Amino acid sequence: MRARITANHIGEEIDRAATEATKARYNRNARFYDAREALVERSFKRWRAKLWCHARGNILEVGIGTGKNMPYYPQGAHVTGIDLADQMLAVARKRARELGVSVDLREGDVQALQFPDDAFDTAVATFVFCSVPDPIRGLRELNRVVKPDGRILLLEHVRIDRPIIGRMMDWLNPLVVRLMGANINRRTVENVERAGLEIESIEHLGPMQMVKLIVARPKTAPTTWLQPVASREGNSTPPAASVDQ
Ligand SMILES: C[S@@+](CC[C@H](N)C(=O)[O-])C[C@H]1O[C@@H](n2cnc3c(N)ncnc32)[C@H](O)[C@@H]1O
Repeated sequence: MRARITANHIGEEIDRAATEATKARYNRNARFYDAREALVERSFKRWRAKLWCHARGNILEVGIGTGKNMPYYPQGAHVTGIDLADQMLAVARKRARELGVSVDLREGDVQALQFPDDAFDTAVATFVFCSVPDPIRGLRELNRVVKPDGRILLLEHVRIDRPIIGRMMDWLNPLVVRLMGANINRRTVENVERAGLEIESIEHLGPMQMVKLIVARPKTAPTTWLQPVASREGNSTPPAASVDQ
């Protein structure tokens, strides 16, 4: 097995309470989700189409939600879609039937994927890592399940890097999370780097470049991370990223 940075190497526990709260919020919103997003979806559609041009082979879509990416799946693609929220998946199942799209839909948590290493050629997430309680852990899981020559494709809104607006986003964030489940102040580009993925390209989209289309590759961990060397304090785990996510 190749040695790569995975969530298990970090040895942190999943925050079960935060994960259950996220699931409950999306289950609560599932019936209204598509209607609520209809306006922004006008821009998102173009960006989804761009992202899916990069997808190849055996594809994993995480946080598939109500299946809004289904119209952009490549012809004949084998796609597995997972989501934390069963009610979002129920809408996705209906959409797949209506569109005649073949997709293997499963309940699952990107922070602890039930797939072996190197199982996929491409992993896709659109507007997901704003909601995942531990995004770095989730991104490391994508690193693990994607083949070394595969790609990780992300379309994510991020914190706007301007003093006043950025601070306003920080201030409003707790309310937005409570209502919608999404953090509006995530620094996802930095999180991708901290998770150890190698960024191949970033496209800056939307007003104030708030949305990023990120194409990343899995990266092999530096071998020093993988040796359980006891430190002077007797700590045998490699350094976990302690960051403002
Ligand atoms: C804002 S919605 C985006 C849905 C879809 N990707 C789209 O582009 O419309 C975020 C989705 O991520 C899912 N999600 C949040 N945390 C997750 C996790 N830890 N594992 C899997 N899915 C998760 C939510 O249930 C929700 O369906």
